[in-house]
Amino acid sequence: MAGLHLIEHPLIQHKISLMRDKNTGAKEFRELVSETATLMCYEATRDLPLKEVEIETPLAIAKTKVISSRKIAFIPILRAGLGMVEGVTALVPAAKIGHIGMFRDSNHKDVVKYYSKLPEDIAERHTIIVDPMLATGNSINNAIDELKNAGVTNIKVMCIVASPEGIDAVLTKHPDVDIYCGAKDKGLNDENYIVPGLGDAGDRMFGTK
Ligand code: URA
Repeated sequence: MAGLHLIEHPLIQHKISLMRDKNTGAKEFRELVSETATLMCYEATRDLPLKEVEIETPLAIAKTKVISSRKIAFIPILRAGLGMVEGVTALVPAAKIGHIGMFRDSNHKDVVKYYSKLPEDIAERHTIIVDPMLATGNSINNAIDELKNAGVTNIKVMCIVASPEGIDAVLTKHPDVDIYCGAKDKGLNDENYIVPGLGDAGDRMFGTK
């Protein structure tokens, strides 16, 4: 059933704690984002459909299963979502990657879309939007709108830390979407940062502040 999936696996919780630490530097932060994305991807792909095939082992014919034909696309929201791409493609190397670029304007509320490039066959794919922070939900809702306008019917969202406000905003507008996150934090501050959160994930990842 669509909705929120809070992934409480100890490895994910441990890595999120290391990311929360303000003394964690950019290199380690990037590695942690990537490793967490790999672990979360394992959960977010749990319900991929399988089909039975016959494979010849060195000893016999085995009836066994492979992922059925519908393919996957990961959609990182630029720029912080880029930090999750290596981690998710480690598990699904054949996935295509679509990019959606958005930034928050000076009031930290409205999102401005400045870039979009999706795979041509996006409508036929299972899609997983990746962004480490689900804050107001505005960027994710915009990205979901864009995918739906392109004909996509199977959409998931993977974020590392989410706010209750962001989760509500996304599930209210798009109740058919699954959200996977590793932590549901207290809420947003006046500047729409998640508290306690990780800080600005893009800045911490790319060392821009
Ligand atoms: N984006 C971030 O990088 N951090 C937040 O807390 C909220 C949005």
